[in-house]
This record gives sequence, structure tokens and C-alpha cells, in this order.
Amino acid sequence: MLNFKMTAKKAYIHTFGCQMNMHDSEKMAGILLNEGYTLTDAPQDADLIVFNTCSIRQKAEQKFRSELGRTKSLKKKNPFLRIAVAGCIAQQQGRGIIKNNPQVNYVFGPQNLQRLGDMIRTGESVVLTEDNPEISDSDLPVLRKDGIRAWVSIMYGCNNFCSYCVVPYTRGREKSRPARSIYEEIRKLASAGFKEVTLLGQNVNSYKSEIDFGGLLKQIDAIEGIERIRFVTSHPRDLSEDLMGCIKELPKVCEHIHLPLQSGSSRILKIMNRGYTYEDYMRKADKLIKEIPGIAITTDIITGFPSEAVDDHASTITALRAVEFDGIFAFKFSSRPGTKAAVMDEKVPDFVKSQRLAEILKLQDEITLKKNKALEGTIQEVLIEGASKADKGKITGRTRTNKIVNFSRGNVSPGQIADVRIVKAMRHSLEGSLISKDEDFQ
Ligand code: SAH
Ligand code: SF4
Ligand code: F3S
Repeated sequence: MLNFKMTAKKAYIHTFGCQMNMHDSEKMAGILLNEGYTLTDAPQDADLIVFNTCSIRQKAEQKFRSELGRTKSLKKKNPFLRIAVAGCIAQQQGRGIIKNNPQVNYVFGPQNLQRLGDMIRTGESVVLTEDNPEISDSDLPVLRKDGIRAWVSIMYGCNNFCSYCVVPYTRGREKSRPARSIYEEIRKLASAGFKEVTLLGQNVNSYKSEIDFGGLLKQIDAIEGIERIRFVTSHPRDLSEDLMGCIKELPKVCEHIHLPLQSGSSRILKIMNRGYTYEDYMRKADKLIKEIPGIAITTDIITGFPSEAVDDHASTITALRAVEFDGIFAFKFSSRPGTKAAVMDEKVPDFVKSQRLAEILKLQDEITLKKNKALEGTIQEVLIEGASKADKGKITGRTRTNKIVNFSRGNVSPGQIADVRIVKAMRHSLEGSLISKDEDFQ
């Protein structure tokens, strides 16, 4: 008698890019699990390799290209290996990817990821890049590794067409997910023991279904078991008084907002098509700082946008000093095919972009440290995540303002919220000491 031993097929998922892409990978992992796959960290052991790609800057694209190149030899060793290219590069380049890389079997954009299961069951060379707005209505299985914090999609796509950005081309038009299915997903997460949700969208404050973003936050705030609500990304133009009120009043909405400024120069903001001026931004930032004590504001900056002159750059420096962001992500402008900025004149030379970037990062390092130092001696509410990566003897978690705190183990476990006194502040993390309950009542 023959003995057949069933071994599950293995999939390796390599993710590039933003939180939205990482969450899309969790959805793909959920689909693959339903298809009988297990996940592996070793591409050489995989039966299926999925690249979930990002095309936001040239560097992200180059990283993917070199990883894809390596799969040629893997495919030679294992002709049954299947390779899928998903995400934003897949959407932009479609069939061209298979043409130039014959080892690739499947190409599909972010709006078609729900069809991954069908794809791997059918034949070779599937390319799916058509617009598929129904993505916002599909409730997909999600494989989450962390049992405490979860990403939840609330909207898809973007309508803003900032002149440098590929996202509206790769993710299609903005579409909000129905509030009911968001609510149901989060209620299930709460029952499964999750404590924190991060609502994801390119421009979450323009969320609109039966209710608006404020309404959605109010509904989620009422879900028992969820302790913290975060959201990314907010567009400064659409940051309303109502949303500020929600951050201030709703107990679970954390006092942190990621509010990408991009440039401190109103002239540059205009040609970026951002829809606000420096003054508009500052008015909103001032209000946030005044009305929500201790709020952390983080931002994104692009250096060397076409025609950016010395005084435009100086305005960005002024903005950084004025707001004193808690943290920033700063990037050199990267020309992306198909965007308006790609064909703008007066490109800034790369070494100037680099100099400006270095100056911005140096200044921000000082500001971040100063802001963190101001927390020394304060008591912060920390959601405990687990053992610290840097020091296994310690435990790690985050403040409501999203700062990492490491402290010695006490009688607490992951998922709990503890009061921690900040004893030392560094640039990237804080050191704390757990406050015992007795001290609490003194
Ligand atoms: N939806 C968010 C950001 C999405 S992309 C928003 O509107 O702010 C994340 C960041 O990448 C952007 O904020 C921007 O700072 C940066 N970025 C996007 N396109 C870029 C490009 N072509 N070159 C350099 N940085 C870019
Ligand atoms: Fe890109 Fe602008 Fe949309 Fe953000 S708002 S995703 S920067 S087009
Ligand atoms: Fe995200 Fe990159 Fe696409 S930042 S939306 S994966 S281009």
C-alpha cells in the first residue's frame, strides 16, 4: 500500500512600503492560510513567494528589483516554485513585470488582492490590475501575528493627487469601507483580546460612509475591551475641529496625530497640490497643542522638491522649530513616473537634496530628544507589548503618544496597561520604572 504524506505548501511573503501594505500582507496571509498554506521565513523553502511591493520612492522600487532578481536561481532549483508580485509596483507595471521577469507567475494590484486564492488555483501568468472599488466592501480573513495591537482598514485609495505621489494611480479612487463592517471587525478583535486598533487609510479624516470619521471614532470608542484607538494618515487640509474634539474628548483615542506637512513653504505646498498653506497648517497645529495637553504631532517632510530654493528650505526649518514635532519621516524628493512633479522643471541636484535632508534630520534629532527629555519624571500610561528587543530582561510598551518605553519586569503582562514613571529619555525610546500599586495610593 502506498503511503501519502500530506505536507502543507509553504508561502513566503516579502512586504515593502507603508502600514497599509503591511496590513495587505496580513490579508494575503489570511487568504493563503485558508488555501492550506503555512507561512515560512525562508524563501528557499517556499512553494509560493509573494512580493508585496511599494513604488512611493525609487529606492523602494530598487530594493524589490534586487530581491526579485534573486528568485531566478530559486526557480531553477525548484521549477514548481510560483512567484507573485502584488502591491503598488504591480498595479503600475502590470504585464510588463512578467515580460521582463519570466519567472513571475502572478501580478496583481492592491485592489485585487482578494483574488489571490483564485489566482493560485488557476494556471500560469495571471495579471489583475483593473480598478476594483469593491475591495472596500470585502471582509477578508486577516492573519495577525500580534495579539494586542491590530491594523484595521477603514478606507482605500486616494483622491488627492499630490503632484509627487503615485498612490492615487496605484490604489485608485478613495472609497470608504462601510462603518458596520469596521465596527464588526473591531468588536471581534476586542473579543479575541486585542487592546489597540490603528485605523488605516491614506486620508482617514475624509472617511465618509453612513457616518463621518468623528462618528466612526465615537462608535469604536464604545467597544468594550478596546483600550486605545489610533489612526493614520490625517491630511492637514481635512483636519476638522470635530476630529480635534474627538482626540480631546474620547477616552480611547490616543493623543497622537501623524500630520504630514511635506514643506514649510506655501509656494512649494501649492505646486505639491497639498491644498493648505503654511499658515493653515500652523493654525491647526497650534490649536492641537493648546487644546490637547501633551499631544504628540509627527510629520513627513520632502526635501528638494522641484524648484525648492534656499528660502523654501528655510521655511521648512522654521516650521520644524515652530511646531517641535515629536518625530518626523523625511525623504529626498524622488521623481515618480506618471506624476506631475516628474515633468516639472528646475530639478534640485541630488547633493543639495541630501544636504537639506541632513540638516533637517540633525535639527529634528535635537528636537525629538528635547521633547522626550521633557517627559522625564512624568508618569505615563503604557500598553505592555512584551519582552524588550534590546534587553530581554526588560519589558516594552508604548505611551498613548506612541513613544516606546522599556522598564524592568514587574507583576504585569502583555496587553495590560500600567503606569510607568519615565526616568531617562533617549531619542528613540524612554526608560521607565513601573509604579507599584502601593505607590499609586500614597
Ligand atoms: N497619505 C499620506 C502619505 C502617503 S506616502 C499623506 O498624504 O500624507 C508617505 C510619505 O511619503 C508622504 O507623506 C511623503 O512625504 C512621502 N512621499 C510620497 N511621494 C514621494 C516622492 N515622490 N518623493 C519623496 N517622498 C515621497
Ligand atoms: Fe499621496 Fe497626497 Fe494621497 Fe497622501 S494625500 S497618498 S501624499 S496623493
Ligand atoms: Fe504604500 Fe508604497 Fe503603495 S507607501 S500605498 S505601498 S506606493
